[in-house]
Amino acid sequence: MSRVIDQFHEASKYLAGGVSSSTRVNKALGHALLFDRARGNRLWDLDGKEYIDLCCSHGATLLGHGDPRIRKAIDSALDRGAPCSYENELHAEFAKLLCETVPCLDRVRLTCSGSEATMHCLRLARAFTSKQKIIKFEGNFHGYHDQVMFSIGTPVNQLGPENSPNPFPGSTGMTAGLEQNLVMVPYNRPEIFEETFRRHAHELAAVICEPIYYNAGCIIPSAEFMKLVRRLTTETGVLLIFDEVLSAFRMGPGGAQEYLNITPDLCTLGKSVGGGQPLSVFGGRKDIMDRLMPTGDCQHSGTYNGHVVAVAAGLAAVRAYTQPGFYQHIHALAERLYGGLNSLFARRQIPARVQGLGARFGIYFGVEGPIRNYRDLVGHQREKMLRFIRAAIGRGVYFHDYGGAACHHGFCAATTTADVDAVLQRLDDALTDFSRPS
Ligand SMILES: Cc1ncc(COP(=O)(O)O)c(C=O)c1O
Repeated sequence: MSRVIDQFHEASKYLAGGVSSSTRVNKALGHALLFDRARGNRLWDLDGKEYIDLCCSHGATLLGHGDPRIRKAIDSALDRGAPCSYENELHAEFAKLLCETVPCLDRVRLTCSGSEATMHCLRLARAFTSKQKIIKFEGNFHGYHDQVMFSIGTPVNQLGPENSPNPFPGSTGMTAGLEQNLVMVPYNRPEIFEETFRRHAHELAAVICEPIYYNAGCIIPSAEFMKLVRRLTTETGVLLIFDEVLSAFRMGPGGAQEYLNITPDLCTLGKSVGGGQPLSVFGGRKDIMDRLMPTGDCQHSGTYNGHVVAVAAGLAAVRAYTQPGFYQHIHALAERLYGGLNSLFARRQIPARVQGLGARFGIYFGVEGPIRNYRDLVGHQREKMLRFIRAAIGRGVYFHDYGGAACHHGFCAATTTADVDAVLQRLDDALTDFSRPS
């Protein structure tokens, strides 16, 4: 008897596929894991089993679940009636803190999800430049809307030429022809980028990228590549957009742009920016942001934009990220966890490795050589990844499996050194299960 399984079957009678979001079904388990409650870095499923959480809401709960500062902020917003679709002083306080903290931000706007943030950012870039095309990097993920949901998990036999990747659609049912607005380029390949960029510069509104490619686990671009992208876009007036939905606040208060010391024209912030509440941000240079209505002619509006509960939570979260010592703690945990995991794999001679930066990391099975981009990961062994995750969940460490792809995992700031050691002990046991012949 399992309440998790029973409830998943019950949900499947009414929710398509049994879930509210397609990727919530864990392929490693064949069902979604349903959680009863959470606190700090711990989750308890409907059967009462406890897990150390290494998904952390796909990066949204960087402070951990049920953080008292977030809770207090939400309670206070609710006490004031939480009027939906109106603004109060918290919006300006939050925007000011973001502009003071993230290098490229002169002005911001608030949305509910990362997908909306990239959608609005791209519309604004097109409005500002009066150009249509966007450079998108193969494998980089920018959300679930039709403008950019191409080449996010292209099957190996559909990749196309290396210097001109196939804009393979991420779903059926997408608006036909939108791929013609995209110029596809491999990530982290300066010579191919330069050649393609120069050919298309006259018709480009923007280059959008994941400045740390966390959607492939964790790939840090070379300084040469990022400097080139910034130099060529600056020279030609093409806008550079950093999609920091995942990288924001992950390794420092100023996100990837501060870490790489490259300031884009526009950026998006998501997940951790809302402290676990549905909130995302886009923003950047004042002259570009002024093109938004009502000062300008580019539309961005929505009933739930900047919901006061989410803004209160976001303000409390970003205040916490900017406290002294916050990132020393994150980096110390990161070193212990990623180093410890690599040692576990090495000791058991399992051909797997971990790459991470700040609070998120990737695990790669069977990949040799440098990992620079999507194509360097075609040898990643998904079946092994799923087997590892199944074993980890069995031993009380929760990873989301992303279908076995090399994707991102992470920890939260509520984690202690002792928790990292507990993770390593549980995963050591999981690797015994993993290595046992089935
Ligand atoms: C880099 C990046 N951009 C955009 C998105 C979409 O964000 P959301 O799921 O909030 O719509 C994600 C989500 O994982 C992401 O990682």
